[in-house]
Amino acid sequence: MGKVHVFDHPLIQHKLSYIRDVHTGTKEFRELVDEVGMLMAYEVTRDLELQDVEIDTPVTKMVAKRLTGKKLAFVPILRAGLGMTQGILNLVPAARIGHVGLYRDPETLDAVEYFVKLPQDIEEREIVVVDPMLATGASAIEAINSLKKRGAKNIRFMCLVAAPEGVEKLQEAHEDVDIFIAALDEKLDDHAYITPGLGDAGDRLFGTK
Ligand code: URA
Repeated sequence: MGKVHVFDHPLIQHKLSYIRDVHTGTKEFRELVDEVGMLMAYEVTRDLELQDVEIDTPVTKMVAKRLTGKKLAFVPILRAGLGMTQGILNLVPAARIGHVGLYRDPETLDAVEYFVKLPQDIEEREIVVVDPMLATGASAIEAINSLKKRGAKNIRFMCLVAAPEGVEKLQEAHEDVDIFIAALDEKLDDHAYITPGLGDAGDRLFGTK
């Protein structure tokens, strides 16, 4: 079973309180989501492999640590996942970015793939799927299905706010995927919104409502 990591860092919790607040406008919301994306990426990449390298400091020689260069890719789920991408890239500028687009079938309510563009060597990469909200779990599960179909193996999932229902579904569907969450909320409401949540992340990011 994949592990669930809930971040309790004060900076993340502080910024999240403004993200949740209905009085926070589009510009500030967007900036805060980016900032939290960056802070979360810092934690999500905590176990990246390091290697010894010999360097010269101005004083002497030493053996220092550098990333092995193991390949990393972040995959935002369209469209709300885009809101965290720039913050992540500020921290990991060389990371590749894939995209998965899903829509909800109005009759079956299933998540249906309409767009997938990934780095060619996706099977060799450590992949972090990014979506601000993990509600029913349907989009996350389908996005990870899409990635696995194309050969992806090492996948983790990162979101701002999750509902327990979505976490459970995602864990059942993809036992190998660790889940990184800034806040685990109470439940889903009757319209599959996370409660207390932050509303519709896509609309708030892009000012479409
Ligand atoms: N997607 C959102 O943007 N918000 C929710 O509360 C649930 C799904």
